[in-house]
Amino acid sequence: MNQILNTLTPQAQAEPDSGIVKAAMYGFTKPGIIPFWSGEGNLPTPEAFSRPATESLLKGETFYTFQGGIPELRGALARYHTKHFGRAFEADNFFVTSGGMPAIQTAIQMIAGEGDEIIIPTPAWPNYAGSLRIQGSKPVEVPMTLANGKWALDLDRLFDAITPRTKAICLNSPSNPLGWTATKADLIAIRDAARKAGIWILGDEVYSRFYYGGARAPSFLDVCDTEEQLLLCNTFSKNWAMTGWRVGWLQAPKFLGPTIERVIQYNTSGTPVFLQRGCAVALDEGEDFIAAQVAKAKANRDAVVSALKDFPQIRLSIPDGAFYMFFGIEGMTDSMTTTMRIIDEANVGFAPGAAFGPGGEGFLRMCFLKEEHKLEEGLQRFTNWLKNSQPV
Ligand SMILES: Cc1ncc(COP(=O)(O)O)c(C=O)c1O
Repeated sequence: MNQILNTLTPQAQAEPDSGIVKAAMYGFTKPGIIPFWSGEGNLPTPEAFSRPATESLLKGETFYTFQGGIPELRGALARYHTKHFGRAFEADNFFVTSGGMPAIQTAIQMIAGEGDEIIIPTPAWPNYAGSLRIQGSKPVEVPMTLANGKWALDLDRLFDAITPRTKAICLNSPSNPLGWTATKADLIAIRDAARKAGIWILGDEVYSRFYYGGARAPSFLDVCDTEEQLLLCNTFSKNWAMTGWRVGWLQAPKFLGPTIERVIQYNTSGTPVFLQRGCAVALDEGEDFIAAQVAKAKANRDAVVSALKDFPQIRLSIPDGAFYMFFGIEGMTDSMTTTMRIIDEANVGFAPGAAFGPGGEGFLRMCFLKEEHKLEEGLQRFTNWLKNSQPV
């Protein structure tokens, strides 16, 4: 078997497991476990979005389709953006992908080749670095810092990381796992640095509606033109509770259309029509659902803060967006082993901070978009553990 494994590409052989998946695989069979490791809410997709999908399926919409997405969904994406971003958007700037992850993969396959670099502030969702490494490109990770109760991105340090091999700055705001959210001034500074260097901005704004300081987070769409070097990745997974559907979109300059459609052809060959029908309805009719989810996330965030704030060994920044608490525990140097211990001893599951790259060790991530009673019970179990146990 080893001989056969050795025939795989070095990248495929070297890529480690995702620490999030490792924690989940360790804990998910434990009876009564309360899991907070995965990045999704507890609600299934609302029936109003699922019904058009099942109707389409039963009607026989089961054939190959447009590589860039059905016109109805691309039109709904343009309407949604026009409504939320205060200016007109065109359907031709939106390309439907089989999830947010494939939107990111499509983007990086277009802009980064062997040995090319993409700059990523960390701690970050590990999938950017993983998919870059798998294709022979290089993630250049710039650690953020937690000081005085706030995560901070040092823009000078970010821009100092630009080299002749740099193809893009990747920015996830609001951030998974930090909840840190870029200000408009940050976005302008990044836009200007990218323009000056002639590199791409790879924006990931999948949590832009999960923002606790207004109707949505500041966006690159507030400061950039759609026809410049901007690729924005997004997904139906979070806002509309559709993680299992695997549908997302890439927003890109129109002139990239033929290239993007070719990349989609050679990866997934398009996204099922029946799924896209449900997604179009979600965009047009999903506002009440989003408002309820965001209100619940905000209440849950506050509940987590009040449960943890009096423990002197806990370090956290109250997240401005997304639905994660990324908290440090004094004395913890091995977040994977500590995560497993907490699973075994408290029957509560977090994701280890080390999974999120440089600067993540010493922290745990908790997804708090869960049922109220499970959140309460999980916090109770964890705070009891904190009172009686030490991390490693
Ligand atoms: C920051 C970020 N971007 C993208 C995604 C991908 O979403 P999808 O489930 O649609 O692939 C996730 C999912 O957790 C995420 O946290």
